[in-house]
Amino acid sequence: MSSKLETVGIAKRYGEAVALEPTDLTVQAGEFLTLLGPSGSGKTTLLQMISGLVSPSEGRIEIDGRDVTHVEPGKRGIGMVFQSYALFPHMSVWDNVAYGLRMRRKSREQTREAVDGALAMVRMSEYAKRFPKELSGGQQQRIALARCFAYRPSVILLDEPLGALDKKLREHMQAEIRRLHKELGATFVYVTHDQDEALTLSDRICLMNHARIEQVGTPVDLYDRPATRFAAGFIGHSNLLEGAVGEARGAGGEAILLAAGGRVPLPEPAQPGLKGCLLVRPEAPRLVEPKQGYFDGTVSDIVFFGSDTRVQLTLSDGSQINVRCERSLKPRLGDTVGLTWDPHRTTLLSA
Ligand SMILES: Nc1ncnc2c1ncn2[C@@H]1O[C@H](COP(=O)(O)OP(=O)(O)O)[C@@H](O)[C@H]1O
Ligand SMILES: [Mg+2]
Repeated sequence: MSSKLETVGIAKRYGEAVALEPTDLTVQAGEFLTLLGPSGSGKTTLLQMISGLVSPSEGRIEIDGRDVTHVEPGKRGIGMVFQSYALFPHMSVWDNVAYGLRMRRKSREQTREAVDGALAMVRMSEYAKRFPKELSGGQQQRIALARCFAYRPSVILLDEPLGALDKKLREHMQAEIRRLHKELGATFVYVTHDQDEALTLSDRICLMNHARIEQVGTPVDLYDRPATRFAAGFIGHSNLLEGAVGEARGAGGEAILLAAGGRVPLPEPAQPGLKGCLLVRPEAPRLVEPKQGYFDGTVSDIVFFGSDTRVQLTLSDGSQINVRCERSLKPRLGDTVGLTWDPHRTTLLSA
């Protein structure tokens, strides 16, 4: 069961301080949407207003078209999971998971079925009799998930739920959360400041910065077509080549960006004179012989990454560009190389 979620001009101020500017966001039924952004960008504020734990200064929240702005948290059909597991230490795992169902006055039979089902789903059935202190951090987080899933909310809000786990376990739990989202079919709104986590988990990402939405799109949209410098810098590795759009060479009408001494084709025509920067992801360039590419650079650093090699090139004006190379290519420190790429793999961002 899943619900469509919509915020309409929702905003939060604490005195003079703006925690969230008026924000419109739609999350489709069954979607996995991630709020991604640096610390303090308003992610938790937005999530807590959806849950009902924080009341908005203005705007409204709709679930399946129904205005729930003034509905109390327990009656919105929403489940929440936080970074701190907040399990009751004096209750067994089973009783922790049953808690929400008892609060909702479910029958004994319904409760037993739901708790056993939720524990099976997070693969913790054999731990039912233990107490929270007898579990690892990852196991406690599974119980927190089970407790939320047990009463089958149609919208589930998760605020940095894996933030306290180490990297290996976090990656494992990411795969688990993806599986659980599919199994439950509920609408998930997930908060993280970790771009890799957002890219791997989400159907769509809502990128936030300074109390507002910067860009909303699929992981591929945000990676391939970032709308702003902030988006380009926050997601993935990026080279930003500063310049201005110059006259096209020849008749084709294709505009050229004058970068650090080179002429570089643009992905699409742009206004001559426009100042901006060209985003070039490290995997786009190909290394060629000197003078055979758009411009030359000198190899100033080489870092081995296992599957590939990261090569840093210094250009004539002292700026740098990072290129991911296949291992078969063996540039050496101090070599001069040319650079070329498919213009359609780059993005022009205006200043
Ligand atoms: N209860 C509060 N009182 C005052 N300011 C708050 C309160 N909660 C959040 N803020 C401020 O609102 C901004 C957004 O916070 P938050 O939503 O927690 O960001 P995030 O979850 O993205 O790290 C921050 O500047 C924070 O200090
Ligand atoms: Mg937060």
